Amino acid sequence: MLSPISAKSTDAMSSSDNNPERTLADLGVTRPDQVLSLFAEVRERFDRQVSRPLDHPSWEILRQSWLGRKSGVLTLITEHWLKPAAPDLKRSVGQELNKLKTHLETTLEERRVDVESLADHVASIRDRVDLSLPGVNRPVGSRHLIRQVFQEIEDIFFSIGFSVVEGPEIETPYYNFEALNIPEFHPVRDDMDTFYLELPPSPDKKTAPTQLLLRTHTSPMQIRTMEKQKPPVRVIVPGKVYRRDNPDATHSFAFHQIEGLAVDTDITFCDFTGTIEYFVKQFFGPSVKTRFRPSYFPFTEPSVEFDVSCPFCGGTGASNGSTCSKCKGAAWIELFGAGMVDPAVYGFVNYDAKKVSGFAFGIGIDRLAMLKYGIDDIQVFFQNDVRFLKQFP
Ligand code: FA5
Repeated sequence: MLSPISAKSTDAMSSSDNNPERTLADLGVTRPDQVLSLFAEVRERFDRQVSRPLDHPSWEILRQSWLGRKSGVLTLITEHWLKPAAPDLKRSVGQELNKLKTHLETTLEERRVDVESLADHVASIRDRVDLSLPGVNRPVGSRHLIRQVFQEIEDIFFSIGFSVVEGPEIETPYYNFEALNIPEFHPVRDDMDTFYLELPPSPDKKTAPTQLLLRTHTSPMQIRTMEKQKPPVRVIVPGKVYRRDNPDATHSFAFHQIEGLAVDTDITFCDFTGTIEYFVKQFFGPSVKTRFRPSYFPFTEPSVEFDVSCPFCGGTGASNGSTCSKCKGAAWIELFGAGMVDPAVYGFVNYDAKKVSGFAFGIGIDRLAMLKYGIDDIQVFFQNDVRFLKQFP
């Protein structure tokens, strides 16, 4: 480390023999050769001081003490040695003063360059990256619970030959409704009221732009998949969907579904129930019981709602001696809608309804996750509160 010159040690002239605050006459200098040796002493003193280790502040102090306008050594020599000098000494004092001035300025400038490059060097050493130091541990986040549940369900269906496809969240009414056998004035559209996109007029302003909406379910992907591929079809479709539902503990305007579709030449209702039961037992555990209730969807016939025995009270309707708060004593919890694909739907995708059959289901992932993990408010999935997220690493 440098031990820079201190303000005190730059007290440029401390010897009374060559003190520039005294006149030459006071110092007993009367001859030009004495002037020369006097200046040689001053210069030597400066050389000693300037050769000490310096940093920028101590260099500045040194410069001021020698070249400072008010009380620098050079000014004092001008005032006390040159101005009052006897005429026969004036010339030599003037010459020596000029030489001294040049020497001071040149040397100080050289030292300034040294001092600055030394400072740069020190800074570069200080800032150098030490690759041997241990790295900074950044906390790693985890996958959101909804993503984890998607993954769990995908793994179950992978194991029985399904593959995953994804589709657009912005849909046309054709795919979201019409091709699913829901014509424009069908009352079921009220249940699935959604957000329509405001589109700019077409460039020619004659044709109306194609209407677009945020899909209300993942079922449009049944149509898109069957349009693209011939049977056999076995796909699941995870994704986000939207409805104009007011938020509460079980409703959100954006939520998640997984669609399932299996179509082949000989798929029966038994394949359908077997597949669903396999999935539910894998997901909730082998002790859970399942049941179907008749329901209605325009694109499945017959349609069912699928219930599981309440996993919280073991399907008894009671927990800790009182009514189970999760199934409200019903012992069953509604899980999702499903059914055999309505033959009318095959007409929209050029499948021969006489030759093929299949089943479809649409699972609300948020409610499924709530059920499995005992979460009582769907909104926590969207609030991204770290205290909640950390519980599902
Ligand atoms: C449908 O969306 C059908 N597409 C399901 C289907 C697919 C039936 C294939 C037959 C064949 P539904 O409107 O019931 O059905 O919604 C399915 C699930 O989405 C519900 O069981 C529920 O779990 C979930 N869900 C519906 N609305 C909301 C909402 N606002 N917030 C959170 N979850 C919701």
